[in-house]
Amino acid sequence: MVMENLVSSWCTTVKSLPQNYVFPEDARPGNKIVPIFKNCPIIDLEKAVSDRNNAIQQILQACQDYGLFQVINHGVCEDLIKDTIGIVKEFFNMPNEDKASLYSLDPQKSCRLYTSSFDYARESIHVWRDVLKHPSHPLEEWVDSWPPKPSKYRDVVGKYSVEVRNLSLRILGMICEGLELKPRYFGDELTGVQTLLSNHYPPCPDPSLALGISKHSDPYIITILYQENIGGLQVMKDGQWFGVEPVANAFVVNIGLLLKVISNGKLESAEHRVVTNSKESRYTIASFINTRSDIVIEPAKALLEKNDCRPLYRAFSLKDFQQTHKEHRGEGEATLEVFKIEG
Ligand code: OGA
Ligand code: NI
Repeated sequence: MVMENLVSSWCTTVKSLPQNYVFPEDARPGNKIVPIFKNCPIIDLEKAVSDRNNAIQQILQACQDYGLFQVINHGVCEDLIKDTIGIVKEFFNMPNEDKASLYSLDPQKSCRLYTSSFDYARESIHVWRDVLKHPSHPLEEWVDSWPPKPSKYRDVVGKYSVEVRNLSLRILGMICEGLELKPRYFGDELTGVQTLLSNHYPPCPDPSLALGISKHSDPYIITILYQENIGGLQVMKDGQWFGVEPVANAFVVNIGLLLKVISNGKLESAEHRVVTNSKESRYTIASFINTRSDIVIEPAKALLEKNDCRPLYRAFSLKDFQQTHKEHRGEGEATLEVFKIEG
């Protein structure tokens, strides 16, 4: 049965890392000690209530400098976060027969359980993770396709998904103000799609050779990630990797490549990867906000006019973009290079 490909199905039976999980030397983590990303901005959203302008400036600065930051006091209920990560762990730890109906190699299947990347069959090296991925907005449209077990999954994850989406829209609202775009610029066309992706990274026999996710930029508008208290996420800055330290009850916010384009390169989109550890399973939940599939993406006209600057990127369809991102194996810079206007 193909489900036996799931890392969690066989990883406890191997003592060394299988060859098809060993990354080439220039891409593997190796034994180098990766410094902590000490400058990672941590933005207190409670303070945004009394001093919105200051919070907007902090967010904008973080987006310009790194394309990644963390938010605390974000208003998503702590208990809901705990319940959700608990349910996700329960899901991944159910016996295989309870998950079999969700396992699929077909990327077109809306709710699916798979392993490694979207393209297991064709990739030469696999990454050390199992994934549950499904659309989540509008909730009523998708919830029936979600896992029926654990029995609380749909209820708890549904509430989480709505709250995290609202948080994404709140942050986008602040970015919108910071960029001086018209109010509600990030409306349904640009934010109408949400995907929830839960990752399980089991303990790995050799974290120096393997990756949980290889270097990529998120090909969406904005990502909100919950990573509990076990590190593994790393971000590339000035050609070096830095570890994004877990902060209690915080979310990691990632600016997606599409938002970089819309901002005409003013906002960064951080390249990041995930490393494994040999001791304990790590679980994360990512919520991706994406544009509707039928729209054209281009630098915001109002922004170009206001700053009297030329567009750095040409207009493109989401389909073209997704294809290009796949061809460049998730690498952000290489993907955007294709859409750059020479100047
Ligand atoms: C992702 C991602 C980071 C993590 O799913 O795109 O970057 O720590 N996840 O799981
Ligand atoms: Ni990512």
